Amino acid sequence: MSDTSASTASLLSHLGPLASRFAIAWIDSCASTNSSLMERMPDDDGRAHVLVADRQTAGRGRRGRQWQSWPDGSLTFSLLWRFAAGTPAPAGLSLAAGLAVARMLERIGVPGVQLKWPNDVLINGEKLVGILVELQPARDRSLAAVIGIGINISLPPGAQVEHHAGVTDLARALESPPPSRPALLARLLAELQQLLDLYAVAGFAALKSAWEQRNAFAELPVRISGEHSAIDGICRGVDDDGALLLDTADGIQRILAGDVSLRPLGGEGA
Ligand code: BTN
Repeated sequence: MSDTSASTASLLSHLGPLASRFAIAWIDSCASTNSSLMERMPDDDGRAHVLVADRQTAGRGRRGRQWQSWPDGSLTFSLLWRFAAGTPAPAGLSLAAGLAVARMLERIGVPGVQLKWPNDVLINGEKLVGILVELQPARDRSLAAVIGIGINISLPPGAQVEHHAGVTDLARALESPPPSRPALLARLLAELQQLLDLYAVAGFAALKSAWEQRNAFAELPVRISGEHSAIDGICRGVDDDGALLLDTADGIQRILAGDVSLRPLGGEGA
């Protein structure tokens, strides 16, 4: 049995009865699990499709950036989740995914998990997880969402990771050895299916207060930067759609995730 078949078998056994809700493909390598699913979307067989790669050769991050990962040192996968026509606006979807990751980390004992709008997961201000959500609307108004998640499990010594506020890994965040990648993924898929099922019927509004409890920048001054402009204000949380509420000199502005990033004002940060 190859490593990927052993990993698949272990993932299915950790999922237990939930295994029937997922179609799992665990592969050695691909350019990007998000790109693979977006380019060749599997037919809808009623299950959520999960593509896990031990190695990504061209992992993608938000805003056109690269995502670095290491075989054995990272968990990189994408989940294809289909929403029926008429389900809530997708703006809050990446926040819902971040919340699912935060809940999984808390359940395995990681202290001080925080969320940075729209969807970074931080420990002590350092990035542990990145999430890239890509959407493909269909003609019948149903929506396919590819939710790509990269978790740093144990960065190799001397790993050079470009991020303005630093990165961390699960081995540092936990005081005990991290669970195996299949065990971690099974726990995360369980959280994702619970929150995405709820999102499909009740929208982000049902998850808003849980997200805000973990907001790393609640009531703090932040800068929101787009490609050509920036706007400063106090972070007043998020609304029912997952838009950031920024208290500016001109009043409250709603910021939709799109192609913008958030940084704290008055010092380095996430
Ligand atoms: C970010 O923080 O910029 C988002 C990073 C998302 C990385 C994951 S790894 C699995 C999936 N495949 C990709 O190419 N990207 C996402």
